[in-house]
Amino acid sequence: MTFQLLLACHVLAGITATLAGAAAMLVRKRRGRHTWPGTVYLAALLVIVVTASGMGALHWPRVNHLLILAGIALAGATLGYAARRVAWRGWLPYHITGMGISYIAMLTAFYVDSGPNLPLWRLLPPIAFWFLPAAVGLPILVHALIRHRPGRRTPAPPRS
Ligand code: HEM
Repeated sequence: MTFQLLLACHVLAGITATLAGAAAMLVRKRRGRHTWPGTVYLAALLVIVVTASGMGALHWPRVNHLLILAGIALAGATLGYAARRVAWRGWLPYHITGMGISYIAMLTAFYVDSGPNLPLWRLLPPIAFWFLPAAVGLPILVHALIRHRPGRRTPAPPRS
């Protein structure tokens, strides 16, 4: 019963974070347009991590690898958020890298756990679920870093 309740909140937060993260990446990087889905992503990721920890405790130690990915996703998002809020000198690469790593780690956890149950995806070898999100996400991350590299005009951090 407790597990089912945690799982329901977890799946809802997972769908929300996936959509909000994609929206934050795709929209023009303006205050509101970008910061609103970005904040929703952070809130949903927190719910994912809390519910995953609860489910992890109930199924200890079977899903410890997912909790490590939860830690990476949370650490990346915290770095990305702090870089933008504190407005470090040259904050943008830290923001892009932190948020990108966070999103990749979150999707990796999802595919590692649920990939073997998804139609078509289940035909892939289990090891593929560990690498596919990074194989797609890392080139996009590198492209974003090159596009916004120091020396090109770096936007001031948007005020909230
Ligand atoms: C940091 C990211 C994530 C972590 C650490 C995580 C962790 C977990 C954990 C610990 C479980 C319970 C597994 C078990 O005890 O058997 C679980 C189940 C599940 N998660 Fe996630 N998850 C993450 C992201 C997501 C996302 C983005 C979704 C998208 C909707 C999602 C959907 C699900 C589903 C459907 C299940 C049930 C799978 C099953 O019963 O086989 N998760 N997750």
